[in-house]
Amino acid sequence: MTHPTSSPVIRHAAGPMVGARFPSLQGRRVFVTGGGSGIGAAMVEAFAAQGALVAFVDVAAESSAALAQRILANTQRAPWWRACDVRDVAALQQAIADAAAELGDFHVLVNNVASDDRHTLESVTPEYWDNRMAINERPAFFAIQAVVPGMKRLGQGSVVNLGSTGWQSKASEYPCYAIAKSSVNGLTRGLAQSLGAHRIRINTVSPGWVMTERQVQKWLTPAGEADIARNQCLPDKLQPDDIAQMVLFLAADDGRMCTAQEFKVDAGWV
Ligand SMILES: NC(=O)c1ccc[n+]([C@@H]2O[C@H](COP(=O)([O-])OP(=O)(O)OC[C@H]3O[C@@H](n4cnc5c(N)ncnc54)[C@H](O)[C@@H]3O)[C@@H](O)[C@H]2O)c1
Repeated sequence: MTHPTSSPVIRHAAGPMVGARFPSLQGRRVFVTGGGSGIGAAMVEAFAAQGALVAFVDVAAESSAALAQRILANTQRAPWWRACDVRDVAALQQAIADAAAELGDFHVLVNNVASDDRHTLESVTPEYWDNRMAINERPAFFAIQAVVPGMKRLGQGSVVNLGSTGWQSKASEYPCYAIAKSSVNGLTRGLAQSLGAHRIRINTVSPGWVMTERQVQKWLTPAGEADIARNQCLPDKLQPDDIAQMVLFLAADDGRMCTAQEFKVDAGWV
């Protein structure tokens, strides 16, 4: 890992991130699910800034198009993207195949898509359950299934699955999301051995409470602010880019001996 300045990789409360440079990411092909906004968009931008060739899918066409424009302006290269609802497994796998046909086999897959809509035990129907799993659990498995043949051809790969610390701290306002997110650790552990034989690494990155636009608009109440102050060891609020920096490391050769693990970026939430 090299660094453009001698200062540590740190973003102070009022300044932009001074991130590390990962030379091995230059020219790497990266696919991100749910990359059109939130943490996914931060990762798409961070990979593009490293010189990676990025592709993403998202159901939100407007924010995706705006992101692609921004990246084009900043890097002179537009990312590949497609409006795609990941609940449709065939459409997701087709998008991966089409992007790979254009860019080449993917070195990196980031399984990011999710939706943390609130619900209660009493309100959940079998249809709602299936819908939550179709967004929060199923796409990761089938995206891995779609990229692994290409990673085997490349002789390497890195899969990063976005988990969560929410279920681990017993957050109770979204039981179906909690169940799906807890399964991410099983997905990582359950595939690490067989993928490892092909030098394909697979890890979970579990964010704490990250201040995406959606989180701030929908859930950051004064009580939430108090929760952060009480539960985090660090006083600053987590930003999407804090998660992206960890994902870059795991995607790059710098993380070449890391697999089967969960890495938490949660400011030390108790
Ligand atoms: N933000 C947090 O505090 C937090 C905390 C813990 C874990 N996470 C995890 O980090 C990841 C990103 O979270 P986020 O907060 O950026 O989420 P988000 O809801 O802000 O963004 C998710 C993205 O997925 C897209 N999406 C939603 N449903 C889709 C569908 N059916 N098909 C295609 N795209 C769809 C959305 O349009 C959005 O761009 C998720 O896996 C989430 O579980 C986030």
